[in-house]
This record gives sequence, structure tokens and C-alpha cells, in this order.
Amino acid sequence: MAAVACPAIATARGTAPNRPHGHGGSLRSAAQGAGFAALLVSGLALWRWPGQSLFLLWPHVGGGAALLAALAPWVVRHLPAGLAASRRPGFTQTSLALLALWLALFLSGLAMAAPALLWFAGRVWFPAREVTEALALVHFWAAWPAAGGFVLHLGLRHWPREGA
Ligand code: HEM
Ligand code: HEM
Repeated sequence: MAAVACPAIATARGTAPNRPHGHGGSLRSAAQGAGFAALLVSGLALWRWPGQSLFLLWPHVGGGAALLAALAPWVVRHLPAGLAASRRPGFTQTSLALLALWLALFLSGLAMAAPALLWFAGRVWFPAREVTEALALVHFWAAWPAAGGFVLHLGLRHWPREGA
């Protein structure tokens, strides 16, 4: 029996242009993906059982802020590498839509948490009720396509294959 290795994949990996990073992701991107899934689950639990502030809201807000802190520098590096590696306009467009959704999701979450964070800083401030309601609406409806778009993004990325 000759070599059992898969030379086609090895060749594709070695020669494909614009390969800024690996194909299977990294431990970090996996951890960030898991963090995102946990936020979706805790967010949906918050929606289903509102008022569970100690067990759900604070872990959700803290986890969200921690994920944002980890994700932001990663996405800033991922963006130019991803734009250079994308070989399909449809992939680029859906990826940019994903980025816009994630921004809407995180920014609306932070804005909703702002009064509580300001309270800890000694300032009492609440936006108008309609503003909070609009933020919650944006947050809730961005969460679903942000999760679906992420799965799509991972599904559509350029897996190494023969002739790729
Ligand atoms: C919220 C925004 C985004 C998130 C969370 C995200 C996340 C990910 C993850 C986890 C992977 C797989 C792991 C990896 O290859 O490092 C990936 C792959 C990829 N992403 Fe993104 N991404 C985002 C936005 C974008 C944008 C705007 C583009 C621009 C086109 C892009 C282009 C790519 C490409 C080309 C790959 C595959 C790399 C390859 O095939 O070698 N991503 N993305
Ligand atoms: C900086 C990050 C984040 C912060 C500060 C944050 C903050 C919040 C806050 C304060 C609420 C309570 C809203 C309310 O009581 O009406 C909430 C709810 C929720 N969050 Fe987040 N969040 C963040 C990220 C995320 C992410 C990444 C997801 C999805 C993956 C998500 C999904 C949800 C959902 C589904 C709800 C329930 C919405 C509702 O009750 O209408 N959050 N979030």
C-alpha cells in the first residue's frame, strides 16, 4: 500500500492563494462561538422568564461584555484577512451583513445595560421608555439572524477541497 495521506488536500492547503489563517478555526474562535451560543440561550431564557436578574441577567450582561472584549480585536484582524480570502461576492456580502447584525446586537445590548452600569458609577439615568423598548426589539430580532448568519458563515466558508 502506498501513502495513505491525502495529497489533494495537502496541495490545496499549500497552494491556494490568500490563505491568511487555517481552515478549521482555532481554539479561540471555537471558544467565542461557544460563548455566543451561551448568550443566545441565556438571552432566550431571559425573554421566556423575565425577572431572573441574578441568575440570568447579570451573567448575560457580564458574559456579553466579556465576549465583546475578546471578539472585537479578533474581528478587527479577521476582517481584512476575510475580505482578502473571500472568493465569492455572495460570501462577502452575507459576511458583511453578519458583521452589521452582530454590531446591532452588541451595541443594543450595551445600550440596554448602560443605566445599570451608570448606577454603579453613582449616576442615575434612564432613557425614555420607548428607547428601551426599541433597543430590546432590535436586540431580540438581531439575535436570531445573527445566530443563523453565523452558522451560514461557517457553512459557506472555503473548506479545502480538491481543485479549490
Ligand atoms: C461578526 C463577524 C464575523 C464573525 C464572528 C466571523 C467568524 C468566523 C469564523 C469563526 C470563521 C472560521 C474560523 C476561521 O477561519 O478563523 C470564519 C471564517 C471566515 N470568515 Fe468570518 N466572521 C465574521 C465576519 C467576516 C467578514 C465580514 C468576512 C469578509 C468577507 C469574513 C470572511 C471569512 C472567510 C473568508 C473565512 C474562511 C477563511 C478560509 O476559508 O480560509 N468573515 N469567520
Ligand atoms: C455586549 C453584549 C450584550 C449585552 C450587554 C446584553 C444585554 C442584554 C440585556 C440588558 C437584556 C435584557 C433586556 C430586557 O430585559 O428586555 C438582554 C436580553 C437578551 N439578549 Fe442580550 N446582551 C448582549 C449580547 C447578546 C448576544 C450576543 C445575544 C445572542 C446571541 C443576546 C441575546 C439576547 C436575547 C434573545 C435577549 C432577550 C430579549 C428580550 O427579552 O426581548 N444578547 N441582553
